Amino acid sequence: MDMASCALLIVLTCAMLHVFLGSFLARPTKAKHKLPPGPSPFPIIGNLLELGEKPHKSLAKLAKIHGPIMSLKLGKITTVVVSSAQMAKEVLLTNDHLLSNRTIPQSVSVLNHEQFSLAFMPISPLWRELRKICNTQLFAHKTLNSSQEVRRKIVQQLVTDIYQCSRIGEAVDIGTAAFKTTINLLSNTIFSTDLIHSTGKAEEFKDLVTNITKLVGTPNLADYFPVLKMVDPKGVKKQQSKNVEKMLVMFEGLVNQRLKQREEGKVHNDMLDAMLNISKDNEYMDKNMIEHLSHDIFVAGTDTTASTLEWAMTELVCNPEVMSKAKQELEQMTSKGNPIEEEDISKLAYLGAVVKETLRLHPPVPFLLPRKADRDVEIGDYTIPKDAQVLVNMWTICRDPTLWENPTLFWPDRFLGSDIDVKGRNFELAPFGAGRRICPGMLLANRMLLLMLSSLINSFDWKLEQTHDIDMDDKFGITLQKAQPLRIVPLPLKINH
Ligand code: HEM
Repeated sequence: MDMASCALLIVLTCAMLHVFLGSFLARPTKAKHKLPPGPSPFPIIGNLLELGEKPHKSLAKLAKIHGPIMSLKLGKITTVVVSSAQMAKEVLLTNDHLLSNRTIPQSVSVLNHEQFSLAFMPISPLWRELRKICNTQLFAHKTLNSSQEVRRKIVQQLVTDIYQCSRIGEAVDIGTAAFKTTINLLSNTIFSTDLIHSTGKAEEFKDLVTNITKLVGTPNLADYFPVLKMVDPKGVKKQQSKNVEKMLVMFEGLVNQRLKQREEGKVHNDMLDAMLNISKDNEYMDKNMIEHLSHDIFVAGTDTTASTLEWAMTELVCNPEVMSKAKQELEQMTSKGNPIEEEDISKLAYLGAVVKETLRLHPPVPFLLPRKADRDVEIGDYTIPKDAQVLVNMWTICRDPTLWENPTLFWPDRFLGSDIDVKGRNFELAPFGAGRRICPGMLLANRMLLLMLSSLINSFDWKLEQTHDIDMDDKFGITLQKAQPLRIVPLPLKINH
């Protein structure tokens, strides 16, 4: 063999070895870049039809077939759904830094709200600054302690209203009462004023917030086929612009009024004053930001808190032995009919367990808020591709029979002596999410819930309005609501009000 042929042979051998070894070595990498399993998509629409009216339940069924991490094609959008506590931990803790941005629904991209919305803006210096302000100032224990007196008065008003119903044997729509009270608890904590004075106004504001969350939560073709965004096929953008504008105009009025009062030297020491003080030397906080932040606080905080209270009362009237245990605990702390002080609520171990159990069976935000992959993210044997939407099915996780004994049973006692909490450390029970984007209003929500619930059950006995069983069905949106409102009759206790 001459030199030339020898060289050619070496080159060919090396090339073949390169191809062979290359493909061999590439195999594990290729296997790694594997989408999680999932149902086969139809052309164009993908798996959209699989969602149905109750995506939390349909996706739970699919997870039984395809496993705790699965992928679907929703129109053009690759969506990864995780349905086990271990996978939730991978998303919310291990890979939190890569999965903390959001996919932005068309219903949020109105009036530039996506740029100023704490809940939907990308991780950025602005988001970090706002979260710092929320954690260290607005929703810190110290700030909340200083506004507890105002919340006590509002809950007392709720008791007085219900007392009127109890005198004439009239049923109370618990969801509406809870909504009105939550709005006023929030608006007094933030603006030192009642946003809602009359029942009619409460209904109007409830409708406004419900319309906003419904449009954010309802599947919208334009989110799955971005090319349709320009066309706005279901008129989502048009409707949502009107809703968001109404909210922003309302908050603008409150901020302007406050600015005037401050010029006159009036001090309130509430969250709005805190935000305006911060805006003096913080480039990120200005009047526009305060209005958008207020929008998010009200939209994120009212529906969720009110519907949790409605579910808690529903479960309590359906489970009289649990109700009576909760009442006994309250009676030991204070006598019947007396209000509970906010500083005492952490001592109510059983009532705390009732709230946890309610959040477990009825997590108000069943998929948390949608996350988005910043780049390819490896989880186990699978890859979540860059830009995929990631959903955590907290509803399924909270009913996982491998984690929870009798998972569909309302049984608060399961939490007695257990250190599982809802603060984002236990991924089998994370209704407020976890990681960097965990709900900043969690402490306030917990205080409001325990305050309202303890007052409702320590001040009245309750009976069903109707003789037939209570409807336990839910209706899906970004928050999971009771399908049929709970109407129950308060009975006066034999004490003086
Ligand atoms: C029972 C009541 C509530 C529940 C179950 C709840 C649940 C949640 C969940 C699941 C998230 C998304 C977390 C994630 O992506 O990991 C969230 C975010 C958020 N929540 Fe709540 N929430 C409640 C009450 C409140 C209240 C009372 C406020 C305000 C006063 C509030 C303000 C927010 C905000 C601003 C965000 C967005 C945070 C961000 O993206 O950085 N929430 N909440």
